[in-house]
Amino acid sequence: ATASEPYEVIVIGGGPGGYVAAIKAAQLGLKTACIEKRGALGGTCLNVGCIPSKAMLNNSHMYHQAQHDMQRRGIDVSGVSLNLSTMLKAKDDAVTGLTKGVEFLFKQNKVDYIKGSASFVSPTTISVALNDGGETQVETKNVIIATGSEVAPFPGGGIVIDEEQIVSSTGALSLQKVPEKMVVIGGGVIGLELGSVWSRLGADVTVVEFLGGIGGVGIDEEIAKQFQRNLTKQGLKFKLNTKVLSAEKENGKVVLKTEAAKGGKEETLDADVVLVSVGRRPYVTGLNIEAVGLEMDNKGRIVIDDQFNTSVKNVKCIGDVTFGPMLAHKAEEEGIAAAEYIKSGHGHVNYNAIPAVVYTHPEVAWVGKNEQELKAAGVQYSIGKFNFTANSRAKTNLDTDGFVKIITEKETDRIIGVHIMGPNAGEMISEGVLAMEYGASAEDVARTSHAHVSVSVSILPSVLGSTMLLIYSR
Ligand code: FAD
Ligand code: NAI
Repeated sequence: ATASEPYEVIVIGGGPGGYVAAIKAAQLGLKTACIEKRGALGGTCLNVGCIPSKAMLNNSHMYHQAQHDMQRRGIDVSGVSLNLSTMLKAKDDAVTGLTKGVEFLFKQNKVDYIKGSASFVSPTTISVALNDGGETQVETKNVIIATGSEVAPFPGGGIVIDEEQIVSSTGALSLQKVPEKMVVIGGGVIGLELGSVWSRLGADVTVVEFLGGIGGVGIDEEIAKQFQRNLTKQGLKFKLNTKVLSAEKENGKVVLKTEAAKGGKEETLDADVVLVSVGRRPYVTGLNIEAVGLEMDNKGRIVIDDQFNTSVKNVKCIGDVTFGPMLAHKAEEEGIAAAEYIKSGHGHVNYNAIPAVVYTHPEVAWVGKNEQELKAAGVQYSIGKFNFTANSRAKTNLDTDGFVKIITEKETDRIIGVHIMGPNAGEMISEGVLAMEYGASAEDVARTSHAHVSVSVSILPSVLGSTMLLIYSR
């Protein structure tokens, strides 16, 4: 763009929020640029998050199965061994392929990709320190901030992440050797996914969690309990209600001091590698938000209204850097809606129907309200549950850990929560999301034909828990 020809939209940040917003804006006919400083598109998710973690989860699961699960299926394998560098390369290849794919989509949709670090000069002028050196300024009518999040440091600053021995998720995705002993601080999504990866590859993994249950925010407590039992069966160890006080490097090891969360006796743990996974926080470093006076809340999130407007006119904000769950698909939905608001003044995200998935084995997935939230809110509800041990496909697959739990509003039969632990829960949850998006009752779902002999047919007996038992047992 020249000074006389400003952009209609500049998106700052090329993650799932930003790249989707940019492509959508361009598709809507708006002259659009996306500024990204990482040197690759795709943000946290494609580069050091969703994608590399799923590559490691999938391949470590196969390795684990080859070692521990093949014989009982009548498949004799011998000489199974790990080639970690090849496994890491497969992960890196997946990342490169996908980030390049986004770059191609930018070209195809005529989004200008500006490689550099953006900072506000004014709400309509953005200065970019270019990755190749030098600086440029771009003018725009609208800005969408999508700068994402970063690893939250350990509270109190007592634990220093070096990404080799004391790692965040980023270092834990690139360990060059399987640690003998690994301690994971924080039993949320990252701790459980990456703890599973290294446990399957042979590490002795202990997860230290401050709260009394695992799985992070939003998980149904009943699911969390059985989830913990399943992971324990696989070899992960858990220390719940436990606070880490410090972690220090000593003679090639890391020594951790812990105490009971409510105070009490101190304990010492040692590890070869420590993973710090106690959450993520919004990222605005270098953006110079002071120059435009954007309002932030006490958690460092950029404050927005229900149309993604910040406190500054023509500056919108989406994704991890603002409110809501830090999930890629949530950021993407917001990216589309924000672009639509700019174009037409209308857009929509249904925050009641955003699924969450933990990609362990079994997977855990949910959408809507959990039981403890409904109890707290005094909502009258019914529950339908079905164990995969009674599903013919799960049984023949020798993969029966877990259950489906569907929660309906008692008075209306409307589905208000779906919680699944089991094989492919992350795929099955889409049905729950669709049902909730369409405001389906349990009866609507129960009357929908599900293929025999699928795992997802387990949804049917689960909705019968409310009103439809007669139909299914006809
Ligand atoms: P980000 O993806 O963080 O992208 C922001 C981008 O902005 C970055 O690339 C950054 O370099 C750039 N940027 C920041 N400031 C500037 C600036 N001033 N100038 C230029 N560029 C800038 N979510 C899921 O839904 N499913 C998963 O399976 C999943 N797995 C995950 C696994 C791990 C290990 C981690 C860490 C996260 C995972 N997430 C997952 C979360 C997901 O990665 C985030 O929710 C998602 O990336 C948020 O998208 P975003 O666009 O808001 O921000
Ligand atoms: P998290 O919020 O999921 O879990 C952090 C856990 O650490 C919580 O259980 C918390 O109680 C615990 N904790 C906090 N401080 C502690 C302390 N001092 N000692 C012990 N435990 C402590 O955060 P996590 O796992 O770091 O992940 C960050 C975000 O990344 C997630 O919230 C999620 O949005 C996203 N993510 C999503 C994935 C997915 O969708 N599959 C996968 C990985 C990450």
